[in-house]
Amino acid sequence: MGKKILNPSASLLPCPIGLITTQSIGGKPNIITLAWMGMISSDPPMVSISVRSTRFSHKLLKENGDFVINIPDAKDLERIDFCGTVSGKNTDKFKEANFTFGKAEQVKAPIILECPVNIECRTKDFLSYATHDAFIAEILTIQVDEEIVEKEGGKWNIEKINPLVYCPPSQEYWTLGKKVGNYGFTKGKINK
Ligand SMILES: Cc1cc2nc3c(=O)[nH]c(=O)nc-3n(C[C@H](O)[C@H](O)[C@H](O)COP(=O)(O)O)c2cc1C
Repeated sequence: MGKKILNPSASLLPCPIGLITTQSIGGKPNIITLAWMGMISSDPPMVSISVRSTRFSHKLLKENGDFVINIPDAKDLERIDFCGTVSGKNTDKFKEANFTFGKAEQVKAPIILECPVNIECRTKDFLSYATHDAFIAEILTIQVDEEIVEKEGGKWNIEKINPLVYCPPSQEYWTLGKKVGNYGFTKGKINK
């Protein structure tokens, strides 16, 4: 079996899909679908989201660096795609997508109540690249639906989340398959 050599492109997969909520001070909240994001540090927990400067959300993020990464349920696929194809510049996406906003604990941006996980973030750094700008942010609080986690520090029930992932090379949405193991399960089992 041979290998094909391809030109460099956005090819990391799968990418998590988030609905990012932003709000300018005194303005209306907005939602943007994002796939270019990821964890970059554990303690303090830091994430990055990459947003093109042409997006309305970019303007809101520059005005107020607070945002929420809402992890949607795959059943909301249509609404997720919608929030990634129309701009908040001329559309109230909360209204049109029929999402309900709720109060964040710590940041000045709303959470989406229909999303099982809401990660509240505050921008600390900013990096500019040709196509996208990265907002590097600290996670300040996480809100999750009660059935996902019983208590602080407890194990999360991932089956209750049903997240979506995005595969850039094929521009396709996928859901997760089944659980195949636990972190570190080979410790002490594999002979060197
Ligand atoms: C699956 C998916 C992933 C996306 N990922 C990004 C991304 O990582 N960065 C970005 O700037 N735009 C991304 N977009 C495009 C924006 O969501 C889209 O341009 C949106 O309409 C911008 O909204 P706004 O103008 O209200 O901010 C993505 C869209 C989809 C459907």
